[in-house]
Amino acid sequence: MRAAYASAINPDDPLAGLIVGERPDPVPPGPDWVTVDVRASALNHHDLWSLRGVGLPAKRLPMVLGCDAAGVDPAGTEVVIHAVLDDPADPRGYSLLSERLPGTFADRVAVPRANLVPKPKELSWAEAACLPTAWLTAYRMLRTGRVDEADAVLVQGAGGGVATAAVVLAVALGKRVYATSRDAGKRARIAELGAIAVESGVRLPERVGVVIETVGAPTFPHSLKCAAHGGRIVVSGATGGAEATVNLRRVFALQLEILGTSMGTATELAELATLCAERGIRPVIDTVFPFARARDAFARLESGAVFGKLVLDHTA
Ligand SMILES: NC(=O)c1ccc[n+]([C@@H]2O[C@H](COP(=O)([O-])OP(=O)(O)OC[C@H]3O[C@@H](n4cnc5c(N)ncnc54)[C@H](OP(=O)(O)O)[C@@H]3O)[C@@H](O)[C@H]2O)c1
Repeated sequence: MRAAYASAINPDDPLAGLIVGERPDPVPPGPDWVTVDVRASALNHHDLWSLRGVGLPAKRLPMVLGCDAAGVDPAGTEVVIHAVLDDPADPRGYSLLSERLPGTFADRVAVPRANLVPKPKELSWAEAACLPTAWLTAYRMLRTGRVDEADAVLVQGAGGGVATAAVVLAVALGKRVYATSRDAGKRARIAELGAIAVESGVRLPERVGVVIETVGAPTFPHSLKCAAHGGRIVVSGATGGAEATVNLRRVFALQLEILGTSMGTATELAELATLCAERGIRPVIDTVFPFARARDAFARLESGAVFGKLVLDHTA
């Protein structure tokens, strides 16, 4: 079958180890597993981390990459795949597709039956494929930050998949949403999604109840300054660096909460899919590439120019 996989680890040049070629069909490792025919998959920064060796040691290569997909199960049901696998061998208690077992950038992927969520008919294959990682993470981040209690939300690094998802979801929930970007073009586009776009690091006109942080070290001091008394800074990523400076005086004086979260449950993915279908919410897609051009999609992700999700069309 066709697959995009990691053949080597290269921390400095992640695309050097990427091959778009052929791999054997996946073998379901247990009776409760099924093989899904993939119709569309979506890239995440996780796939670049994997090629850099973060979470994917060389001894597990070759490894089919990809966490996100939508496709058709053996019964002919249209499904979205939840990428989180129970994994007692991992310190987190779970691993993601493409970390220990082959991922979604292939014509077929084996997953536990319990990881299948119905695909809403209102969403296209490409839109449904965007939900399992970035969108699920953003959904969980807003819930973890108790967004219902907040009037205003700040989202850092507006172009990323998680960030655009957080903006769209928070706007749909009726919040006043500020979004930072270093790039004027991305600020213009995030404003079109209903956010108040601001330059990275610039003082906001008000303090916010929830900050959505996936950039890390470059933006974390600003996140602390922007949080209102009792505010929640929710962290799920550190694209720009994990060693952030934290002004502890601000943390205790304003009684801030710094909350970490990762991914979400299959139940939350199903809730998110239903929310999107019922409220007309659609993932922001930067580009859909035919599967054969997976390398171009990876190059665009690495360039940092992306706004929203990069999708691979497996039917093309
Ligand atoms: N824990 C989880 O479950 C989970 C799930 C999904 C993602 N993540 C993590 O979340 C992060 C975001 O992932 P993603 O796929 O949404 O997108 P991404 O490609 O990592 O994010 C791109 C955005 O990050 C900002 N950025 C990157 N480097 C920066 C720097 N040095 N200074 C300031 N801003 C910078 C950019 O903002 P501007 O160019 O707009 O300024 C850009 O729009 C990743 O680290 C990923 O691993 C974690």
